[in-house]
Amino acid sequence: MFKQDIESIVKSIITSETVKEHIKCAANLSGYYKKITVNKYSNDNETLVKGGVALSSSGAADCVDDYLRTVYFIKGIHKALTKLCNDFPERSINILYAGCGPYATLILPLLPLFDKGRINAILLDINASSIQSVHNLISVIGLEEYQLQLIETDAITYVKPDDFIIDLAISETMHYGLTREPQVAIVKNLIKQLPSHGILIPQEISIDLAYTFFDYEPYLKNAINEVKGRNELQPYSHRVFIDRLFTINKELFSSPGYELKFISNFYELPDNFINHPDVCVFTELKIFDDIELKTAESYITNPYCIVSIYGLTGYSGIQLEYDFSEIPKWSYKLKERTVSNPD
Ligand SMILES: C[S@@+](CC[C@H](N)C(=O)[O-])C[C@H]1O[C@@H](n2cnc3c(N)ncnc32)[C@H](O)[C@@H]1O
Repeated sequence: MFKQDIESIVKSIITSETVKEHIKCAANLSGYYKKITVNKYSNDNETLVKGGVALSSSGAADCVDDYLRTVYFIKGIHKALTKLCNDFPERSINILYAGCGPYATLILPLLPLFDKGRINAILLDINASSIQSVHNLISVIGLEEYQLQLIETDAITYVKPDDFIIDLAISETMHYGLTREPQVAIVKNLIKQLPSHGILIPQEISIDLAYTFFDYEPYLKNAINEVKGRNELQPYSHRVFIDRLFTINKELFSSPGYELKFISNFYELPDNFINHPDVCVFTELKIFDDIELKTAESYITNPYCIVSIYGLTGYSGIQLEYDFSEIPKWSYKLKERTVSNPD
């Protein structure tokens, strides 16, 4: 019965078209997980890794309630899996899911839509209790016939088995502005192990620099009650786009110079910044193909303010640095204003 229920919820997610429908079916998925989970999840097992902080089991479970995130990832992964099944009709599809959390939200609901012989998945999480929870859910829902390996490990250093050619790599281990959580370090490790035909999800994470009024930008504070789709979100009208700083995708780490940090160019600071006094980064995701998650549609795409220009008036330029060697963070360097000689 639990299997039929989840199959019907996931079908409604895949066919849902409006934001209202997305919210309704994501709430159903969240309610479903709460109903079939007996134990409470711990909120004191956050884990520090060399690349960020892995959320506690309770924090990871709550991600299902970031409604548009959940719906768009499930839609994107369904589309990618369908493509792979069509491209390789004679064999099973190998999925590596890094950071599955206690619900394995981005893959478990989709399984009943695919023949058990077509799926071969490895699910990783650094939290033992999350892995244990996924084990329990597999048997409660009745998904034991699928080839699923669950491994408690650090996805930043994990090496796949030689005979497991990854067709689809999935990780959603991110916080807004790519701060705090280890998305970039994990993706860097996955990309190294991905063959040329392999699909990475999210396909692209774009980080843009803008000068704006942070307080007037759309920002999602409560994904259960206040979620809005892109058509309803009004970007601040005086935002000034400065540059795309980088895009995390399959190609990125094959270029030299991106070991553990990204360093931008120097950008001129405006003399008149009254309408756009904040230096901010904006995150957008292409999950797969035409399925995208835009600014402030989810917690993970909320804008992030780096510094106010009011404190930088003695300077003419700013350079940004994103460092993901430890807990990912943004910092900046400034260029002094040159004082012109009146003679
Ligand atoms: C943001 S939660 C997402 C959970 C679930 N995938 C979802 O989308 O709802 C990220 C999960 O990744 C796990 N995680 C973070 N860093 C990890 C790492 N380095 N190795 C393995 N798991 C990690 C956390 O423990 C957490 O369960």
